[in-house]
Amino acid sequence: MRITFIGGGNMAEAIISGIKKTNLVYNITVSEPVKSRRTHLLETYQVNVEKNNVIAIQKADLIILAIKPQSFNELSSEICEILSVNQTILSIMAGINLHHISMNLNHHKIVRVMPNTPAQVGKGVAVWTATDSVDSEMLKFIKAIFQSCGLETQVNEEKYIDIATAISGSGPAYVFLFIEALIDAGVKLGLESSLAKKLAIETVLGSAHLASNSTKQPSELRRMVTSPGGTTESGLKTLESHGFNTSIDRAVNSAFNRGIELSKEVK
Ligand SMILES: NC(=O)c1ccc[n+]([C@@H]2O[C@H](COP(=O)([O-])OP(=O)(O)OC[C@H]3O[C@@H](n4cnc5c(N)ncnc54)[C@H](OP(=O)(O)O)[C@@H]3O)[C@@H](O)[C@H]2O)c1
Repeated sequence: MRITFIGGGNMAEAIISGIKKTNLVYNITVSEPVKSRRTHLLETYQVNVEKNNVIAIQKADLIILAIKPQSFNELSSEICEILSVNQTILSIMAGINLHHISMNLNHHKIVRVMPNTPAQVGKGVAVWTATDSVDSEMLKFIKAIFQSCGLETQVNEEKYIDIATAISGSGPAYVFLFIEALIDAGVKLGLESSLAKKLAIETVLGSAHLASNSTKQPSELRRMVTSPGGTTESGLKTLESHGFNTSIDRAVNSAFNRGIELSKEVK
């Protein structure tokens, strides 16, 4: 199976590194305009690199669109005439829906995936859906690619991809911001920044691991560390009084709405 990535940015690299850590054998080509990125991808992952999209997709069975949504229209006019009916298009672009991709490329075999960057370390989560024309062998293949990057889940309704974009696609950035804030607060109280960083990261990692392995709900695990009148209760009350939950809810809604705006902007 031959895979061509169009765009060799952060997310494409995360998926390639996931695939390369497994025993799955694929022929991977990356089409990327920036020479330094091509050199980096060639040297790090031993993939084929190309700067011309038309040449890069010629022999591909699966074409992965890993470009920004704003670049999609320009790319569509470049490749729509040369796509063959047997090729499958897989898009990781935020906000661009299956119908839009199909109309722009005049093509029917389309898969839409929302991955995330922890795929770089095999801990990604990918939510995906496909049009009816994608055959079962290709569906199995795509499942294997995203299993190599962490968890994957196929959904029947495209609306779930838009919601996942705001939760798991953008989510790592929310978590990194939380880690940064914990580090800053620790340093302000007098910790060495290296120790503050270690404590913040291990706390998030350990808590996620516990939540993932426990039969208890996250809310119950939270209550278990919150003794009445104690330090945690005091911290949580301050988070609540500063609108922590509301902030997260608004952040997710804002990311979700930005996806809808993006889909209109690139029409
Ligand atoms: N990063 C994430 O966490 C994440 C998560 C889920 C989904 N996504 C989606 O993944 C897509 C890519 O995101 P990213 O973070 O990987 O972006 P990125 O790092 O900016 O990568 C995009 C790459 O594609 C190249 N490119 C742009 N136009 C091109 C064209 N016409 N032909 C070939 N290559 C082209 C860009 O080169 P230039 O720099 O020269 O423009 C850049 O190297 C976006 O649609 C985003 O919504 C990202």
